[in-house]
Amino acid sequence: MSTHQNFDAMFSGVIGQDYQLLKLICPFATEMSRLVGETVAAFCRRKDDTVHDTVHVLELGGGTGITTLSILAANQNLQLLSVDNEPAMQSQARQNLQTWAESGKLRFSGDDALTALRAQPGGSFDVLASAYTLHNFQADYRRLVLNEIYRILKPGGWFINGDRYALDDVTAHTRNTQLEVAGYFKVLTDLNRLDLLEHWIIHLFNDESENHIMRETTAIRQMTESGFRQIDIKHRMDVNALLVAVKPLPQ
Ligand SMILES: C[S@@+](CC[C@H](N)C(=O)[O-])C[C@H]1O[C@@H](n2cnc3c(N)ncnc32)[C@H](O)[C@@H]1O
Repeated sequence: MSTHQNFDAMFSGVIGQDYQLLKLICPFATEMSRLVGETVAAFCRRKDDTVHDTVHVLELGGGTGITTLSILAANQNLQLLSVDNEPAMQSQARQNLQTWAESGKLRFSGDDALTALRAQPGGSFDVLASAYTLHNFQADYRRLVLNEIYRILKPGGWFINGDRYALDDVTAHTRNTQLEVAGYFKVLTDLNRLDLLEHWIIHLFNDESENHIMRETTAIRQMTESGFRQIDIKHRMDVNALLVAVKPLPQ
């Protein structure tokens, strides 16, 4: 079985219908959750070379638990705090991932991202992982969140974010977004889910609005201003990309 097939099998069992539907509407989104987990695993492998401690991870915007599960699967010595301020979403994750919560590896917070981050001591997490959450934030709120992420990470900690990072080339970004909309129409009219089609189109207007859009160069500049280094955008898939950044060790 390939890694992708393993991943699909794991999700079909735990998150079932939600995962299958998201995979149809937005295949990049499920792939991004897989990549976030794979990158957390890469961090854990590096850390295993030196220390055998628990890896503390904070997740922003856990949703129904797709990215959460991918992170949990990354390493056995991992403790995860998953934050989401939408009870309807988080209650599904609580149900889907009950076994992990009972094992003590997973805790939930229903606070909004900034409040949850402000409640954590400085330098207390090895990794901050997230997928498709920060692009929902208004630009000013996102800047405050980035400063807090930097504060709560340990030196050498990683910020791993799979998200919508708009291309600096506005024309290319618009073309990608148009193709994305065409895809929603194709899949959701075939499924006769016009309710979901309406929801996704309305949400897209939010994502693309001036006070939300997360353009690549601006995002990297803001993160540099927060103190991050080795900021790397990888695995770009149209409007989607995985960003990894490091909180530097003291000189
Ligand atoms: C698009 S979903 C992503 C879920 C999951 N990570 C995935 O990739 O499938 C974004 C999630 O972020 C949560 N969210 C949005 N704004 C938030 C905020 N300010 N604080 C905490 N969670 C937030 C939403 O409730 C939603 O569950």
